[in-house]
Amino acid sequence: MKHITEFDVNNKKVIVRCDLNVTIKDGKILNDDKIKASLITVNYLIKNNAKVIIMSHLGKVKTEEDKKDKSLKVVYERLRELLPDNILLYFSQNTRGKELENLISEMKPGNVLLMENTRFEDIIDKKESNNNDELAKYWASLGDLFINDAFGNTHRKHASNCAITKYIDNAMGFLMEKELNNLNILLNPTSPFIVIMGGAKATDKINIMPSILDKCDYLLLGGGIANTFLIINNEVGRSLISEESVEKAKEILSQYANKIIMPVDAIVENQHNIMTKDINEITSEDCIYDIGPKTIELFERYIKISKTIFINGTIGMYEDNRFEFGTKNILNICSQSNAKVILGGGDALASADHFKIYKFYFKSTGGGATLEYIATGKLACLDEQNSLKI
Ligand code: 3PG
Repeated sequence: MKHITEFDVNNKKVIVRCDLNVTIKDGKILNDDKIKASLITVNYLIKNNAKVIIMSHLGKVKTEEDKKDKSLKVVYERLRELLPDNILLYFSQNTRGKELENLISEMKPGNVLLMENTRFEDIIDKKESNNNDELAKYWASLGDLFINDAFGNTHRKHASNCAITKYIDNAMGFLMEKELNNLNILLNPTSPFIVIMGGAKATDKINIMPSILDKCDYLLLGGGIANTFLIINNEVGRSLISEESVEKAKEILSQYANKIIMPVDAIVENQHNIMTKDINEITSEDCIYDIGPKTIELFERYIKISKTIFINGTIGMYEDNRFEFGTKNILNICSQSNAKVILGGGDALASADHFKIYKFYFKSTGGGATLEYIATGKLACLDEQNSLKI
């Protein structure tokens, strides 16, 4: 596996694929860990006189309308604050064409350019997400060397992290190296190994769940994912579920019932009243936003006996302080436990930051990527790149 340090980057145009897919609310970045984590490679390249061209995706872009909320401009502004004042930082509003090419040709060694969201190329034929060769070849033509540092995106084969490597010398950066080294313990975790999975949607994670369940001792569920399982045997009222995943959830539950630990009570909202209810008391008027105290006690029993924990997503809608109870308590209990606790993905990192809970074995920028790594021991994008093969 090639490493950034194997190349002379002096005066070279170096494309760095970062994962700057941060959570943004009302135009503000909720957690900048992913940006800060990327600096290790960017600063190395600056110090070694490279012309640094940064690429990243941000969210999903399906329509022209989506572009408004999914611009990397806000990330550019944060990057401007994080980089030393004397570093010239360009922003290209385009993902191809004259503006981008002219800016790159103006760059001097030690300058940095952030290109607009690679997924803007998804509007026509999902070129970025479908790993399109023509797009990859074009992007490769902009640089002399490609560095893949976007660990959080290694479970996806995109033009900007996968196909591009066919057309340009490539290697991994320091963040990729650090993530792979630290996540090694998840390949052969000391048991009991528990995975705590939350977040709004089950759709992205449901297919990988059986393989995760094969590897872990218990899977503790919260958020919309838990609701998608709860609805199989309970009323969940107006709560968020992923309808398209319910059938698969049924299959998984029947096969792994003894490993899946679901909420037994919840904090619900009912006609503007907030109350705690046992799951079997939920009515069609209720909307679940958090787990209740009995579930925290139940989850704590599993956390206390475990040796390795991976947390992905959040247990409740913690951004609203009426529903922060579950997420905050579970993070605290985990951080005070004797287990090696790994937090993965933007939302989990943002929630720990929000509650100022810092004591974890490792905070990974990868959510979906780490889940895939646990489940399969592989990362789709790296697996295709000969020079990056794990
Ligand atoms: C993440 O935050 O998990 C990565 O940036 C991947 O994002 P994606 O799920 O939109 O591909």
